[in-house]
Amino acid sequence: MKTRIISILLSILFIISSCTKVRPLNQVINESLEFSVMQYNLMTAVMKEKPGQLPRTVDADGKLKTENSYWWTSGFYPGCLWYLFEYSNDAKLKDDAMMMTARVEQEKYTTNNHDVGFILNCSFGNGLRIAGDESYNEVLLTGAKSLSTRFRPEIGCIQSWGSSGKWQCPVIIDNMMNLELLLWAFKNSGDSSFYKIAVSHADTTMKYHFRPDYSTYHVVSYDTLTGAVQARQTAQGFSDESAWSRGQSWGLYGYTMMYRETKLDRYLKQAEHIAEFLINNPNMPEDKIPYWDYNAPGIPNATRDASAAAIMASALVELSKYVSQESAKKYLKVAETQIRNLASPLYRAEAGTNANFVLMHSVGSIPSDSEVDVPLTYADYYFIEAMMRYRNLNIMKRN
Ligand code: GLY
Repeated sequence: MKTRIISILLSILFIISSCTKVRPLNQVINESLEFSVMQYNLMTAVMKEKPGQLPRTVDADGKLKTENSYWWTSGFYPGCLWYLFEYSNDAKLKDDAMMMTARVEQEKYTTNNHDVGFILNCSFGNGLRIAGDESYNEVLLTGAKSLSTRFRPEIGCIQSWGSSGKWQCPVIIDNMMNLELLLWAFKNSGDSSFYKIAVSHADTTMKYHFRPDYSTYHVVSYDTLTGAVQARQTAQGFSDESAWSRGQSWGLYGYTMMYRETKLDRYLKQAEHIAEFLINNPNMPEDKIPYWDYNAPGIPNATRDASAAAIMASALVELSKYVSQESAKKYLKVAETQIRNLASPLYRAEAGTNANFVLMHSVGSIPSDSEVDVPLTYADYYFIEAMMRYRNLNIMKRN
């Protein structure tokens, strides 16, 4: 009788432990990529009925909100389609990716903001890398030339936004992300001016945007005559002196990318310093999905930003390839936690809901009361990218 009770108890324990067993991350990632393919097929059915538009977020009623190609996020949806084609090898996704990429082509002539790098690199850049359509070369090169017109030699930076009464030459940390287009243009045209602009921008930003603890300001404005710093402030963070979460992620990603493309050691060091600031931050929650600002009021009840987590995860997976084994282990542990939590029902939507975006709970701009706790196209993009990078890491390890 006693043995029977023990055996029943053991069986119950086994059932409980199998139910709570942590699923291997590779399984979680494959399942989440399958889910993303399904959501984006639904999204594309809707977008085909909206010529010239690209998904952005949802409106107050939870309905899909779109924009034309000029809005800074326009390249992320075509980029998601390219990654999902790369994952699935499904010809329909390739056709859709090409169709939606074509919708942003006109931005190659944009010279009145810096976002042309984001827009074209995520769409045409991925398209060229994944499907090798040669006609994309011209678009990327024209876009890089347009972006270069915003370089201010007296400052050493690409101007982000237009001048205003408040800021003569505003440069935001996000702008680090646009440099990838310039480095592509250098490699593919041999014109070293693209390289010089990218390195100058990254060096100037490293000097003036970062605080001694390696957190970054959001906006640094420069005097257009002397090139001196005119102001260090925020537009989307909690305060001028706070660490706006997505900005920190842009910085981490930007310097990791700069190291990949230039192999200059100072960029690797900068990326590692930023990673340490974020990983050791006392306000980084246990699940590693940052609050919208590392100094947000109301922590631990402050709003989370899934987009900041997705960008950070993607950057950490890449950074892990360039650092010591010890650091790589540490960075991957954080990225793995982020991917696993983003893929959980707490952050990942149910099929056919969330206007067909994959992730919920991102933040556009709390100070402007815009896009608070909503899906955002770039959160999906960097989440999908993080998963693809992680898969490739494992494929490389196996070979
Ligand atoms: N680049 C704009 C943002 O991160 O919200």
